[in-house]
Amino acid sequence: MTDSAHLTIDGKDGDYPVMAGTVGPEVVDIRKLYGNTGRFTYDPGFTSTAACESKITYIDGDAGILLHRGYPIDQLAEQSSFMEVAYLLMNGELPTAAEHDLFVRTITRHTMVHEQLATFYRGFRRDAHPMAIMCGVVGALSAFYHDSTDIHDSQQRVIASHRLIAKMPTMAAMAYKYSVGQPFLYPDNSLSYTGNFLRMTFGVPAEPYVVDPVIEAAMDKIFILHADHEQNASTSTVRLAGSSGANPFACIAAGIACLWGPAHGGANEAALNMLREIGTVDRIPEFIARAKNKDDPFRLMGFGHRVYKNYDPRATVMAATAKEVLAKMGVTDPVFDVARELEQIALSDPYFVDKKLYPNVDFYSGIILSAIGFPTSMFTVLFALARTVGWVAQWNEMIEDHDQKIGRPRQLYTGETHREYVPLAAR
Ligand code: CMC
Repeated sequence: MTDSAHLTIDGKDGDYPVMAGTVGPEVVDIRKLYGNTGRFTYDPGFTSTAACESKITYIDGDAGILLHRGYPIDQLAEQSSFMEVAYLLMNGELPTAAEHDLFVRTITRHTMVHEQLATFYRGFRRDAHPMAIMCGVVGALSAFYHDSTDIHDSQQRVIASHRLIAKMPTMAAMAYKYSVGQPFLYPDNSLSYTGNFLRMTFGVPAEPYVVDPVIEAAMDKIFILHADHEQNASTSTVRLAGSSGANPFACIAAGIACLWGPAHGGANEAALNMLREIGTVDRIPEFIARAKNKDDPFRLMGFGHRVYKNYDPRATVMAATAKEVLAKMGVTDPVFDVARELEQIALSDPYFVDKKLYPNVDFYSGIILSAIGFPTSMFTVLFALARTVGWVAQWNEMIEDHDQKIGRPRQLYTGETHREYVPLAAR
């Protein structure tokens, strides 16, 4: 390990501390750079900038490794449950049996939403995108739960975190129910977190809903695979919003807004729409050619990742789960043939191989979610539901970090310099 990095600018020498994590690249601490040299660094997209210290999630993109609190994602997805992973991300350790029971009980007791919140939904058009609804209603929670918005009170932070994790399935299911014109279902606390969500989404008051254990397990796995992903765009948004002292519900609403974009959480919806647009295997070469064409903005959705330059480890688990679910449901949708073939062609095409563009988690998640019966517009909502766990864990970590300051990036200004105002009549 190097202790410091030496930088000379305009003949001025400076030493900058090099900080080491437990694993992963060391970072050069440039906090004093501006004071010492009057220079900023330039790094749009944060490709080389660590914006915080964190103990929650570690990714080695070259090796295709994803660890939550040290545990590999494949072990968690295969052996754990979403509730256990939520506890792990928030608390740093796997729960004991007693801690697990208490956590599940606590989350379960928070699943209902304020009755008044239902009226918010009715203000939306029936064809509103459910992510638009989620941005609104999650932000609105801050108007309902005043007793958990004091971010300086650790107990209130815990309660707000539990509320967010517990109420997301209820609110997500309500967004779906509203779009199809069916009545909202209250939670049934005899069911698991995931089973409850499936019932609130697909059940109707007129008849009992039986949770299919294969679908429940697959859904729980999908939630685990989306639970956290280090300092991605939406998590960074949550941290940035929270750095000003904004309340947790507002911060998570900001994260949801960021997640909606097709380069991030919206990719699963975009990937399935793309597969449907391709339609048949014989049209794949046309779309591959478009993805390679620099003059065409088209990208193969569900391929590539800022960090993973090897296989996305979440995609490996997701691909296997997709097979299980499709077999169980006996689904024969031509879109799945297109997906399989596209994956094979892209994986052997030099353009994708050279740029290390592999299928990411979103390439497969849309396929499973569609087979389960979710419309594409709900895909990103499900991502938001699961990622809420990571967002609240990261938000809590940020608040407890003594080095935390309000996020305030600098800029390279290239606009006009000083000029005198010209009155409208003289222009
Ligand atoms: N199809 C075709 N070309 C691509 C793709 C793609 N999906 N992704 C990247 N490239 C090319 C890109 O054109 C560029 O080429 P060149 O170097 O010749 O200019 C090169 O690969 C590097 O791309 P980049 O945009 O600089 O890479 P990035 O790290 O900024 O972008 C990404 C990462 C995920 C935004 C991008 O790969 C992408 O747009 N993928 C499609 C959207 C997608 O599937 N997103 C889900 C990400 S996983 C879920 C999540 O964590 O949110």
